[in-house]
Amino acid sequence: MIPALLCALLSVGVAENALDVLYPDLEFSRTIYVTEDGPRLTLVAEQSKVVSRRGGNVTLPCKIQRDQSLAPSRKMRIKWTKLTSDYLKEVDVFVAMDYNKKSFGSFHGRVHLQSSSAVDCSLVITDITLEDYGKYKCEVIDGLEDGTVVVSLDLEGVIFPYFPRLGRYNLNFYDAERACRDQDAIVASFDQLYDAWRGGMDWCNAGWLSDGTVQYPITAPREPCGGKDTTPGIRNYGVRDKDKGRYDVFCFTSYHTGRFYYLIHPSKLTYDEAVRACQKDGAQIAKVGQMFAAWKLLGYDRCDAGWLADGSVRYPISRPRRRCSPTEAAVRFNGFPDKKHKLYGVYCFKGDN
Ligand SMILES: *[C@@H]1O[C@H](CO)[C@@H](O)[C@H](O)[C@H]1NC(C)=O
Repeated sequence: MIPALLCALLSVGVAENALDVLYPDLEFSRTIYVTEDGPRLTLVAEQSKVVSRRGGNVTLPCKIQRDQSLAPSRKMRIKWTKLTSDYLKEVDVFVAMDYNKKSFGSFHGRVHLQSSSAVDCSLVITDITLEDYGKYKCEVIDGLEDGTVVVSLDLEGVIFPYFPRLGRYNLNFYDAERACRDQDAIVASFDQLYDAWRGGMDWCNAGWLSDGTVQYPITAPREPCGGKDTTPGIRNYGVRDKDKGRYDVFCFTSYHTGRFYYLIHPSKLTYDEAVRACQKDGAQIAKVGQMFAAWKLLGYDRCDAGWLADGSVRYPISRPRRRCSPTEAAVRFNGFPDKKHKLYGVYCFKGDN
């Protein structure tokens, strides 16, 4: 560490004029040099990113690297916060001081310190939810010393573009948040969209991301999607008005605990019949996010178009073949048909409890 040279200019404020009169030649300002070793408390994270999944447990690493000459103090405060998805604010997660510990909001009862040693400030989060995704800050305050380190919690999962029955470009930011939640998902982050784009995602409709920007991923540049002679990339409309801007949305979901399945039923069903058929089977009509999770994370494959909770009709193909989805593994989309049409099956979801 580079020793910092602290240079403080001391001026004698109030007494100055009086002294001026008495001792006109006195030097009133002095320069004081203070040498410091810099902040002695340094925090390190073994990994800057940890990966888990919904329902799992995770340890966010944070360790004090301390000057050997310094004795550990008793009055140490450990604080974990989470950065909001636009990185503008922090929300409290966990605070510990002496024997007092407090966890906040949705983290209540799900977080504790790992405490494997006197310098370990790592945070354990259990029963991870989709909302836990994001960046966390570990901060330790010990007397006048203060250190911080940021750790990202990433989730294994799948991103999918979404628009509701209302049609394309109908969601403001808050509608978009609700729409994803209704499909057992959250609004995706830019990093998640970027990973999906690197994995080949190409989607020519702009959608909200969790940081309040509107973007879309293009791997095969073409005229209606930002220009034919452009490079592949993520097209960015920038930050949009959260109330007035109307777009689609990119949702993200992770593993679920429960069973997603196509209901074996003797006849095709209307939407209302589909809802009831799942209930009769002790389940619920499945949500779009549940189909994407089963398809992407569990390799679910079924060549039967079926109703989903939002009134859309889709089917998941992980082994492309003729007449199902010949060219690519995908969740095929038949749109939002008339709910009275008796033309489709149904996908159900049975929770674990
Ligand atoms: C997570 O931790 C809790 C409590 O320590 C434990 O009961 C549970 O089985 C763990 N879950 C997983 C998925 O490892």
